[in-house]
Amino acid sequence: MAKPLVSILMGSASDWEVMKQVAQQLKDFGVPYDARVISAHRSPDLLFEYIKDVSEQGVRCFIAGAGGAAHLAGVIAGKTSLPVLGVPMPSKYLQGLDSLLSIVQMPKGIPVATFAIGEAGAANAALFAIAMLALNDAELAQRLQAFRSKQADIVKATTLPNL
Ligand code: RP5
Repeated sequence: MAKPLVSILMGSASDWEVMKQVAQQLKDFGVPYDARVISAHRSPDLLFEYIKDVSEQGVRCFIAGAGGAAHLAGVIAGKTSLPVLGVPMPSKYLQGLDSLLSIVQMPKGIPVATFAIGEAGAANAALFAIAMLALNDAELAQRLQAFRSKQADIVKATTLPNL
């Protein structure tokens, strides 16, 4: 098994339905990842241990999904200077607006790159991580380019029905 380059963390197993999009996208590009549930408030000691271990093993960035008072990404960013990408989970009562505002409103000095709420954000966080890794990996850069060309081809081939 190749060493993980991306760490996918989520605050609860209930986030997996959305966060599996991150894993799927990375898998499609052949990028090794490690995915786990570690909560910033339910298991803070475990989170700090894990960040240290996985950083020493060569992880290049973290993608964190959390909902509600979604501080997971911010806490990770406070503990490592590796890039942290945050994905707001669509929460039950506020549909993820709470998660989005929690993640996006990081105070100056400790950034978290924040993505859209839900599946689009999860997939895009993975694609963003791939783009960062592709800066030092020509083969991965080619795969990313092919992925994007395919989307352009779909747009070019799209026709609208006649009225
Ligand atoms: C956050 O609280 C998790 O990231 C999840 O989105 C939310 C609800 O968690 P559960 O109550 O479903 O475990 O920590």
